[in-house]
Amino acid sequence: MIKYIETNKIFHLQTKNNSYIMIILPSNHLGSLYFGSKVDENTDYENLVLSNKIEVGSQVIYDSIDKSFNLNTSFLELSTFGKGDFREPMCHFRLNDGSRITDFKYKSHKVLARKPSFKGLPEVRAENAETLVITMFDEVNKLTINLYYSVLIDEDIIVRRAVIINDSTNEVMIEKALSMNLDINNKDYCLTTFDGAWIKERQLNTQTINPGIIKIDSKKGVSSSDHNPFIILNTTKTTEETGDCYGFSLVYSGSFEAVVERNPFSMIRVQMGINSFDFFWQLNPNEEFITPEVCLTFSNQGYNKLSQSFHNLINKHIIKPDYLEKERPVLFNNWEATMFDFNQRKLLKLAKKAKNLGIELFVLDDGWFGKRNDDNSSLGDWFVNKKKLPLGINKLAQKINNLGMDFGIWVEPEMVNQDSLLYQEHPDWAIKHPSFNPSLGRNQLILDLSKQEVVDYLYDVLAKLFRENNIKYCKWDMNRNFSDLYSSGFDAKNQGKLIHCYYLGLYKLLERLTNDFPNILFESCASGGNRFDLGMLYYMPQIWTSDNTDAHSRYLIQSGTYFGYSQSVMGNHVSDIPSAQVIRKTPLETRFNISAFGLLGYELDITHLTPYETKVIKKQISYYKANRKLLQFGKLYQLNNPFKSNNFELIVMSEDKSKAILGTFQTLQEPSMAYDVYKLPMLDKNKTYKITKREQYFNLDMFGHLIKHALPIKLNSKGLLFHLLKNRYLFKNEEDTQIVKGDVLVNNGFIPKQRFIGTGYNENIRLMGDFGSRLYLIEEIEL
Ligand code: DGJ
Repeated sequence: MIKYIETNKIFHLQTKNNSYIMIILPSNHLGSLYFGSKVDENTDYENLVLSNKIEVGSQVIYDSIDKSFNLNTSFLELSTFGKGDFREPMCHFRLNDGSRITDFKYKSHKVLARKPSFKGLPEVRAENAETLVITMFDEVNKLTINLYYSVLIDEDIIVRRAVIINDSTNEVMIEKALSMNLDINNKDYCLTTFDGAWIKERQLNTQTINPGIIKIDSKKGVSSSDHNPFIILNTTKTTEETGDCYGFSLVYSGSFEAVVERNPFSMIRVQMGINSFDFFWQLNPNEEFITPEVCLTFSNQGYNKLSQSFHNLINKHIIKPDYLEKERPVLFNNWEATMFDFNQRKLLKLAKKAKNLGIELFVLDDGWFGKRNDDNSSLGDWFVNKKKLPLGINKLAQKINNLGMDFGIWVEPEMVNQDSLLYQEHPDWAIKHPSFNPSLGRNQLILDLSKQEVVDYLYDVLAKLFRENNIKYCKWDMNRNFSDLYSSGFDAKNQGKLIHCYYLGLYKLLERLTNDFPNILFESCASGGNRFDLGMLYYMPQIWTSDNTDAHSRYLIQSGTYFGYSQSVMGNHVSDIPSAQVIRKTPLETRFNISAFGLLGYELDITHLTPYETKVIKKQISYYKANRKLLQFGKLYQLNNPFKSNNFELIVMSEDKSKAILGTFQTLQEPSMAYDVYKLPMLDKNKTYKITKREQYFNLDMFGHLIKHALPIKLNSKGLLFHLLKNRYLFKNEEDTQIVKGDVLVNNGFIPKQRFIGTGYNENIRLMGDFGSRLYLIEEIEL
């Protein structure tokens, strides 16, 4: 609902649980009034207003008519520089005469029944969302900024963006054009961000908002794994299930900034948008600049509610509608199995084994094209390497199809190696400066997608690949950050446009390809999760979460990612041990158990599995398939924060609360461990549930020489028999099936079998060990 209350000059936007309220101030600036739990539309709005009743010391008075009013202590929806607001501006300009002063005031507004679509950028798909457009105008410079607010009632999401229009007869240089500004009063808010690096993406990080400016950003040309373009403001008391928090997520994949500023009056300013660093955009008369969208939500029920709002947003309004609740295949990817070293024979051997395990999609990763045997050459030459695959992609795909699996392929279209035919022909297509020797990342350069001819070329080459071969899945990789920024396509005044225009080109390419090939499932990847954002998800309904497949690292990475993104978009693979990324050994069952909370794949040399591993993996895949809908699309709750504890528990639950799967993960086995009770407040207290532990197996190696205490027969742990047994036989760990009333689970919790406490092992003991884990299926039963 969007309501304008003329008497108070109030805009009131309501979602199912929240209110977002703005006010046109007496000065005609647009004020932020309230964002939080729903208040009545006929409420007494005056009680929400925070304003000075007397002049504030040492401030620039906006207009001497009212000495109590200054911009610096006002709560604003749009902020610019030059009239006394000394906080970070949302938009900043260099005017024709060199001046920098702008002052935008309310001019008009309209409420649209539908959400307008601005072609060219990814955006929230919500045609029927009511949208408020507030036109702010700078009378002196003849500049307009339209502020858009779309209301997604059921998802509790407000979508904001700004559009700048040059109504003057002069050129204007935009130096900063963020998508939103929100000022709220401080209530001991903290800032939570999701930071990291390659193989360590989206690690939760909470800091106090002290006076000053906190800025997280990416200058890398990709949204990056350094900081995700998703932030939370929470209080020190917010938990998974209780307390207030705000979430902000940007629908954009390039360099971004998110700014949180606390001024001396403890007012908190939040901003998000395209990074203003190294950005400038000349706006000619009558031209407009469209900023990307930001999605905002508020939860008074802790982080899970906030995350679920974003999960619903992604599933229903970001990813392509064809993929709404469309179950994704269990895939095999050959990368960690072979790297570049494969041929058709080897691939088919892997494929046969994959089929035998129950895998549905076989993905051929890097190395199938040009003369690519390592990462030094061939990016750009998207034709098959006949030495490796003499029969070509088409025949390989056919053979894989004949085995009963779909075929998928890897590409990295945005890149070029200098050692490639494409680069020889079009050296000017790479992003580089004519006078600098370009710096490389993974030996490669980035193609200049701000040029239409490059975009067209890539479309043609990829469309041919997709048309001529039976490809059902495409992994779209991108493995370097931007440097040497220069494009021969822009004059000196416009070089600052390069990265944003690159994305307009990329988005155009993706729009065409994904529309023309609707039967191909696209998975975005950028060295794992270096471009994990709502922008990429708009085109490709899933993303390779991280190159790190170590189970322990994964539950941190996945936990951080779940805060802003649903498990239905996260590619999770089981790989070999020791993990290539951290040289750690974790149990095969745990590698599966954590991967199961998302889109499952296997990425290891399955032709060398032991009989034990083969049997275990088959059982894992059939369990996943039987519960796939729930695991991929169930409502996800995190029960605790693994960044702060030795444990991690999460649950996915069906909408009607009749079915759920609980995952419990332990980092290290500690001596004398406490009892576990997993409180499950999300379940229905009026139902009765049957809880069944997934049948899991352990490897005899876990016991080593201690095996004599666990088995009735004597075995030498260094002997041949032990070796044979450990590779062949499945040793079941404890069975645990219980019938428990919902009110017990909701109010007290689920009590699994007791953990190993150092005094012996029997069938009633839950031996987790280091990096141990369990899955429990929870189903409603009729008594
Ligand atoms: C980086 C990706 O994240 C990996 O999964 C793999 O596809 C390699 N690139 C291939 O070069």
